[in-house]
Amino acid sequence: MLVEQFSNYLQIWYLTNKRDLPWRNCMDPYKIWLSEIILQQTRVNQGLPYYLKFVERFPTVQDLSIAEEEEILKLWQGLGYYSRARNLHAASKMVIEDFNGKFPSTYKDLIKLKGIGQYTASAIASFSSKEAVAVVDGNVYRVLSRVFGIFTPINSTEGIKEFQKLAETLLDPENPDIHNQAIMEFGALHCTPKKPNCMYCPFSKDCFAYQKGTIEVLPEKIKKTKIKTRYFNYLTIKNNNEILISKRSGKGIWQHLYEFPLIETEKEISEKKFLSSIQKDFHLNLSEIKSIHKNEKPHKLSHQHIYASFYDIELDAKAFGDMRTKFTPILKKDIGDYPVPVLIDNFLKLELL
Ligand code: ADE
Repeated sequence: MLVEQFSNYLQIWYLTNKRDLPWRNCMDPYKIWLSEIILQQTRVNQGLPYYLKFVERFPTVQDLSIAEEEEILKLWQGLGYYSRARNLHAASKMVIEDFNGKFPSTYKDLIKLKGIGQYTASAIASFSSKEAVAVVDGNVYRVLSRVFGIFTPINSTEGIKEFQKLAETLLDPENPDIHNQAIMEFGALHCTPKKPNCMYCPFSKDCFAYQKGTIEVLPEKIKKTKIKTRYFNYLTIKNNNEILISKRSGKGIWQHLYEFPLIETEKEISEKKFLSSIQKDFHLNLSEIKSIHKNEKPHKLSHQHIYASFYDIELDAKAFGDMRTKFTPILKKDIGDYPVPVLIDNFLKLELL
């Protein structure tokens, strides 16, 4: 009975409780795609201004495809996980080249685009063309694991398959768009991680977790890799009104964002040791550091905690000029034009430069 009635109850709840969000009043797969990629990174309230900025600056996929990567990263700044922004750019170019500039709206085409996986392809296809494909995101895992009492870990291969299958069984093929929006909204607003509103829940009579008192333990998750601690020692190297910055390359965090010249160490180090690192790493003969700012709290990313220090250094014109081969000199006042990690942006906001 619950399986047959599930979507019905859900859609009734949705029609009276849903938020009015701009991407819900549109069928344009391009705009829906933008909203979904942004919402994978953050909650609705925080994501909304980013969505509005992107749609205003890039009203069509053509506009996005011809933009500079740097501008996209700058608009994305603060959302984190910058590969998503680079994939956004790559996918827009694929739409121009492989789909004649028309943003696809079927699951089979969408899944070919860079950065689009099963969830995103299902969301865009169901919202923009009512294709009957079921979405499974964090909200859906929580709702289904609790209502149907599924203890298989949601991040195991077995769990991923089991939840996908159940989601497909529950989907209303007549209204896949409303059903999918509804289950995510129900997870986001009602069946929340902490203190879900079980008192006024349309499923409370049948909900496994509510009936058995297992709300707090569902959904189950396998504990993943432990958090790594890193120590970043930044050098703010200046001469008059100029400062050196550098673009991060290679794998790892913050690819293609800008930062100050960096020395990473295994542990926190003393000023004396740091001075000798500078000699070694940067061939800089330096006897003094003007000032040091150490962040008190680590900057927390999903798998790493970064302790950052900023060492302020003033060089003469000759020594500063010698650094140009390794780093980029810019005017201090222009630093706000470059995409930087939040860790650096927070430092800039302290106005210590
Ligand atoms: N989270 C992910 N997709 C969403 C959507 N379309 N509406 C609200 N929250 C979401």
